[in-house]
Amino acid sequence: MSAKINAANAALDYVKEGMCIGLGSGTTVREFIKLLGEKVKLGLKVSCVTTSFDSRMLAIENGIFVTETDAIEEIDLAVDGADRVTKTSLLKGGGGALTREKIIAYNAKKFIVIADEGKVLNNVLEGTVNLEVLPFAAPLVMRKLNAYHPVIRMAKAKLGPVISDNGSFIIDCKMKLENPKKTEEWLNNIPGVIENGIFTKFDLVIVGNDDGFRIL
Ligand code: A5P
Repeated sequence: MSAKINAANAALDYVKEGMCIGLGSGTTVREFIKLLGEKVKLGLKVSCVTTSFDSRMLAIENGIFVTETDAIEEIDLAVDGADRVTKTSLLKGGGGALTREKIIAYNAKKFIVIADEGKVLNNVLEGTVNLEVLPFAAPLVMRKLNAYHPVIRMAKAKLGPVISDNGSFIIDCKMKLENPKKTEEWLNNIPGVIENGIFTKFDLVIVGNDDGFRIL
């Protein structure tokens, strides 16, 4: 846990008074939200837009002002975690929040990724590629992606599939990505795919470890 806290703490340095901050989702960002809440209690004034009900609830719980995308002019800084990280691309969506995460991250003036050493890959991005898919299209999308072993993510404390914060299914595939940007675009061109968890646009990756952090 200290690696996640160290990465989150390093990202806090980029937060400035008056900023609108995009809050990602996941256990690493939860540490960032808690630390940001402490600064807010000390008098820092910021507003936030969130990428999941989970982050929204935690931000409110920590006294952070949460607003919506129609009430802001721009997102100054987005901070989010990742499941797999290389210098040029990421895999995200383990928590099923990938669509809102990409909307917030790609619209932010600066997007900082916070991760721990266990997420870092040397060269080729490889692992689970998560897709948010309209339920109506899910069987057809799965047929098209058959080579990548697609499965509909099933809920743990509910019968049937996970339903995302946007009311959609999450489909998980296994992929080795020689050209992440091309695959990111290709997947989003499949009818019924709302978004995919390949991220190729970010400014900085902060990798936390037990002693501190490094910039990737
Ligand atoms: C949520 O959908 C994900 O994209 C998370 O941001 C990502 O999985 C990182 O989560 P952890 O910080 O919990 O590993």
